[in-house]
Amino acid sequence: MNDVPRDPMGRPLTEPTAPSLADDAVLTQPTTAVKDLPIEEWDESTLVLGIETSCDETSAAVVKGGREILSNVIISQGDLHGEYGGIVPEVAARAHVEALTPVIGEALLRADATFWDLDAVAATLGPGLIGSLLVGVAEAKSIAAVLEVPFVGVNHLEAHLYSNLLTHPEAKFPALALVISGGHTLIVNALSDGDYDIVGTTIDDAAGEAFDKVARFLGLDYPGGPEIDRLSLLGNPEAVKFPRAMATESGFDVSYSGLKTAVINHVRKLETAGEAVVVEDIAASFQQAVVDIQVAKTMAAVEYVEAERVFLCGGVAANSGLRQGLGDACAARGISMTVPPMELCTDNAAMVAACATAMIRRGRTTSLDAAPDPNLRLA
Ligand code: KG4
Ligand code: ZN
Repeated sequence: MNDVPRDPMGRPLTEPTAPSLADDAVLTQPTTAVKDLPIEEWDESTLVLGIETSCDETSAAVVKGGREILSNVIISQGDLHGEYGGIVPEVAARAHVEALTPVIGEALLRADATFWDLDAVAATLGPGLIGSLLVGVAEAKSIAAVLEVPFVGVNHLEAHLYSNLLTHPEAKFPALALVISGGHTLIVNALSDGDYDIVGTTIDDAAGEAFDKVARFLGLDYPGGPEIDRLSLLGNPEAVKFPRAMATESGFDVSYSGLKTAVINHVRKLETAGEAVVVEDIAASFQQAVVDIQVAKTMAAVEYVEAERVFLCGGVAANSGLRQGLGDACAARGISMTVPPMELCTDNAAMVAACATAMIRRGRTTSLDAAPDPNLRLA
């Protein structure tokens, strides 16, 4: 059957056609016919193409059975936005338009799969930048429609939760999750697939946003989180005692805007007094304050919901201090903490495909009418 040329629907062709969406080698060698799998037949061999374009990473991944990453291609736009010190939405959307189709082609090639092997196509539906979301959602829907397989619109924050399940075979719900990124800082009581209770959030800046703003003020490259993390290793975290503002003493919300202002005021004071600004010490002291705040609130929430395991995820989960600090706190309490490898902490499509697979198993696919939602909520 494989040597017979087929059209995108899997029907035999007398003359092979070569759609020019991506790499011809991928498109003209279908290996299986179109699938029409009932939900109950979803098993460990089903292949889902995930697409992530919510912010400034263009990513496509092929994930098998919701757990095995066959490919995960990520193109970061960091350099494009660097000169502006932050993401420019219009620039991000245009860059996704240019990058996405080749990224999908590359993801299929690396997975040794073709479009016709796919059982579903998933894309991030929100939250995120509307122009960026539209690019991924439109392409995912188009591919799903042509292949006649389900389209799954995924919540980006839920996808971050699945980055833990994807990379740690022992990880499972229920778990207390700290989802900490450039756009969000959430403490989530994740009870089971699709059943999430937000117990804490930031009342102002997200943690990653605070990293990026402080880094920008210090004249560091964008994105600032990795830069501050790198410099922290060279500085003294005790050098400056920045405030550990707890949004409320008893609740689980956090606040980062006061900390950011404290860093700015401290540096300005040093400059006015003509004293040296040791960037490494400022970075290390700021990072330590974030870690102390976030570990305190997360562990308070662990106690409150009596959690037995913690998931750390989102871009800021790549932070060395936070990984260490929260890991130590969990170990001291005798509970496990899982965190994905670095490349699966920041935005990626593998987590989107894994999340979509779990949704499909619960019978949840998405209508082709569904529109991206920049403010999509988790719970
Ligand atoms: O999850 P993500 O890739 O995108 C959003 O959904 O927002 O997170 C990006 C954020 C940025 O603010 C970036 O500075 C931060 O994650 N980040 C870090 C580190 N790596 C990335 N923050 C602190 N330390 C890091 N090592
Ligand atoms: Zn993210």
